[in-house]
Amino acid sequence: MEPQLEQEHVESLSHDDHKLCVKDFVWCEDEWPSVKHDDFVDGDDIPIISLCGSSETDERYDSMCQDMVAAAQKWGFFKLVDHGVSQEIIQDIIDRVNEFFDLPMQQKLKGARTGNLPLGYSASNLDYGQNLPWVEILQLLRSSQHVEEFSQKVFDYSKRRGLSNALIKYMKAVEELGITVLEMLAHGLGLVDDFFTRSMTEDTNMMIRINRYPPCPLPEKCLGLGSHSDPHTLTILLQDQVGGLQVHRDDDDRWVGVRPLANSFVINIGDTLEAWSNGRLRSVVHRAVLNKERNRLSMAYFMSPTNATKIESPPQLLDPEPNPRKYACFTWGEFKMEILKQKRVVGKTALDRYLIDLSLRNWKE
Ligand code: OGA
Ligand code: NI
Repeated sequence: MEPQLEQEHVESLSHDDHKLCVKDFVWCEDEWPSVKHDDFVDGDDIPIISLCGSSETDERYDSMCQDMVAAAQKWGFFKLVDHGVSQEIIQDIIDRVNEFFDLPMQQKLKGARTGNLPLGYSASNLDYGQNLPWVEILQLLRSSQHVEEFSQKVFDYSKRRGLSNALIKYMKAVEELGITVLEMLAHGLGLVDDFFTRSMTEDTNMMIRINRYPPCPLPEKCLGLGSHSDPHTLTILLQDQVGGLQVHRDDDDRWVGVRPLANSFVINIGDTLEAWSNGRLRSVVHRAVLNKERNRLSMAYFMSPTNATKIESPPQLLDPEPNPRKYACFTWGEFKMEILKQKRVVGKTALDRYLIDLSLRNWKE
């Protein structure tokens, strides 16, 4: 690395009392991304699923659900189009969130995460020590009260309603979409449609994570988010047109770029849904890589059931040969506590703890 670049201050991710330099963000060499943010291979991308016509006939619905299950089985990821979330709601949240991230650091830090829960604003999480992610994160619970309290802390009176209203509307809309997807996955697996969603009631702790990755002078040695799987049931991700999300293909140990597609969401299966479906739906490791020129914005909405929900795959998805039970039963609350203790999710380590047959480990160090 050029010594000059190494010493360059990273203003966009530094607090006044702790100035970070580019070298603080350099990752271990074995994590350096060899596939660039805009490197896409035609015909080698996650499938596209359209929700158009889902209510037309039973046959059409059945076949759409089968296609969705097939994508979740093969890739753990798919792009969803004709999703029905209004463009106005999406544009509003993008504008408000950018307005927030554009504030001076001092003002954003009024909403900084405090205590043990990873909620609120954070830039360059120093708890991580090594391998600092190059990203600003805003993580909030779905609750209107929580969102309003956050907005009050960071914005003056004239602006605060803008952000909180946009967040509340957006979260409601994507949650409805998430329910539809989870019903279709249950249907496609031959379960009752509300098998996964009946325990997703009002008092659950669903949340949103908004990531903004500033331009990075050294994208070949830094990462926005390192390889991880999402612990929840389902993630609904909105990404802008910049590119940077990459999915790991276990078959041939390769990273595949997810080409941005206008008016679509990226859906991926979380660890909890993998366990719930006895490994039929796969939670796949992914990461976010950086670029030198542009900010990149992504928003992940994480669906989860109530804490007391037992994650135990139903008898329809088990048979002694060839599909014995793969994961021991756990509750979502228990799993969430494990994740919080771990601080940082690396690869797919959290779920492996519940494997019944350890030779099936998902994550090899
Ligand atoms: C996440 C995530 C990917 C992206 O927030 O869990 O994987 O493209 N984000 O930002
Ligand atoms: Ni993720």
